[in-house]
Amino acid sequence: MSPGPMAPPFNEDTLSDTFAQRFSQAQDKTLARILAAVVTHLHEVIREVRPTPADWQKAIAFLTEVGHACDERRQEWVLLSDLVGASALVEEINSRRPKSATPNTVRGPFFRADAPSLPIGSDISLDGVGERLDVSARVEDLDGHAIANAEVTTWQANAQGFYENQQPDLQPEFNLRGVFRTDNDGRFHYRTVKPAGYRVPDDGPVGKLLDAAGYPLRRPAHLHFVIKAAGFATIATHVYDRNDPHLCEDAIFGVKPELVGDFEQINADGMPGWRLDFTFVMARAKQGADT
Ligand SMILES: [Fe+2]
Repeated sequence: MSPGPMAPPFNEDTLSDTFAQRFSQAQDKTLARILAAVVTHLHEVIREVRPTPADWQKAIAFLTEVGHACDERRQEWVLLSDLVGASALVEEINSRRPKSATPNTVRGPFFRADAPSLPIGSDISLDGVGERLDVSARVEDLDGHAIANAEVTTWQANAQGFYENQQPDLQPEFNLRGVFRTDNDGRFHYRTVKPAGYRVPDDGPVGKLLDAAGYPLRRPAHLHFVIKAAGFATIATHVYDRNDPHLCEDAIFGVKPELVGDFEQINADGMPGWRLDFTFVMARAKQGADT
């Protein structure tokens, strides 16, 4: 039996080029370019870190664990993407906005698409635990004109820093979540409780790994918003508490100066509480990269 054609030799230095060349006949050039880039960078990491086979098995076991940690309430892959700054970088590249528009940030791992629609003025704290916070905001365009009937989805952690989907046995379903529509003046308001900052989940493989490496896992207190309006680029963003001591070390790179709000202490109906007034500025869809 005659031997088949000899495979070209490869070694530590030439393997990446060989891999990239194998895509030369690819039908989908974009996919081939992306795969070649990802894999050749992975090779670069391996050449730099020089893992043993046992080390590499640990890496594969970690990725397997990340997948197993995901279910309908928990998204460990999103957490990994957020904590290594990949989500923030993708947002930065894809959502360039005019300077005065509200910046986009990551949605984070606790977003739920099925939050209930509520009338303006509703209280989204279903268990009433925490210090009262009255949120009042206006949604406007770059010229300051009201955007009526914008859809505003909000979600937040409770006063202990936990989202309802982290504590399905302790918090009512959809606690601290709601979807509102702006009125004719572009305004909406609702009642809630003041959120606490939190440590990102450290009970799963991602948190454990980064914690072991000494990476800060804190997030300053914030509210999440996704705002959609016909003809405008959708905003997915946060509003942060200016007084939070961890404002400068947000674990998922979400803090921007335009997104820092003043949580003002008030006395409402004889009860101490807090108030936040904020303005969201939307760019026309054609002025931004996304819709
Ligand atoms: Fe959050």
